[in-house]
Amino acid sequence: MRIGILTAGGDCPGINAAIRGVGKTAILEYGMEVIGISSGFLGLINEEYTQLDENLLSGILTLGGTILGTSRENPFKKGNPFNAIDKPKLIKKHYTEMGLDALVCIGGNGTQRTAAQLAEIGLNVVGVPKTIDNDVWGTDVTFGFDSAVCIATEAIDRLHTTANSHKRIMVIEVMGHHTGWLALYSGLAGGGDVILVPEIPFDINSVAQCLKKRAISKKPYSIVVVAEGIPTPKGESAGYYVSNNIKELTGLETRDTILGYVQRGGSPSPMDRILATRYGACAVELIAKKQFGQMVALRGNTVISVPLSEVGGKLKPVPIDHTLIEKAQGMGVCFGQKLC
Ligand code: F6P
Repeated sequence: MRIGILTAGGDCPGINAAIRGVGKTAILEYGMEVIGISSGFLGLINEEYTQLDENLLSGILTLGGTILGTSRENPFKKGNPFNAIDKPKLIKKHYTEMGLDALVCIGGNGTQRTAAQLAEIGLNVVGVPKTIDNDVWGTDVTFGFDSAVCIATEAIDRLHTTANSHKRIMVIEVMGHHTGWLALYSGLAGGGDVILVPEIPFDINSVAQCLKKRAISKKPYSIVVVAEGIPTPKGESAGYYVSNNIKELTGLETRDTILGYVQRGGSPSPMDRILATRYGACAVELIAKKQFGQMVALRGNTVISVPLSEVGGKLKPVPIDHTLIEKAQGMGVCFGQKLC
């Protein structure tokens, strides 16, 4: 068999580990040919690809980013009607001309939605869920998430020492697009005093009240972790909005850090290397069994497969009754609700 592999959407640590998992399993276990497609779905449109062999797959387990490159190209997005190329039709044509028997799509929400749509027009597709956001429905966790939690937590650890030295409020904005998984996990791991996530409506006055109470009880400083996707007036940056309002409402010295793209960079954590490798190997097993139109997923500690038609593009928000939220609230962490 000849299988194609592409990486699409935002990059993250672990993608190369997944590519390696797919490639080495396909070549060594099943004797397949592996074609690496450049820049996500764009590579299928523009016929940019190269054959992957053991040499090209060597030494990439620990490498950040993606050796194939990525893009946010969505071939099903309705473009300009005047120069509308039928991209899905072109992709199917090139998929056939490349002699592909199957296609592995490594990506987040948008990628899995496109993968599901390509499966509907007859391509043999298997999805592998990746994103630092951990917001892909159908899997307990995506690879990329653990690495980003480690990066964000290390940053929060560092903010504790400078906040303590200056007796300041430190606000840190972490990524997550529309969900609060990264803020919740790094906020807890980093000992955040306030954690704001899009899934829990917050009142900035409650946040200020909580911080004032901490200051009155002689807490020398506070750490506020905010998800970039919390609602703000006029779509103002989450970190700046919260920081500016804390200053105004409490009079406490406050500084802000927008952590940004460092959360997407560098070498994957050991857990992400393992998860990405497992996902890659299991994706090839599905192909060998001709079980297409599926996405590999983690349930507990077992890798299973779920229909792309059920998960493609579906967001997995943080449940507001998540046990971590309950336990954190019980320990005095403020989520910006009235009761703080
Ligand atoms: O989806 C991963 C992610 O890093 C989000 O957390 C973030 O909001 C988004 O990508 C940034 O997108 P881009 O890389 O296109 O700027």
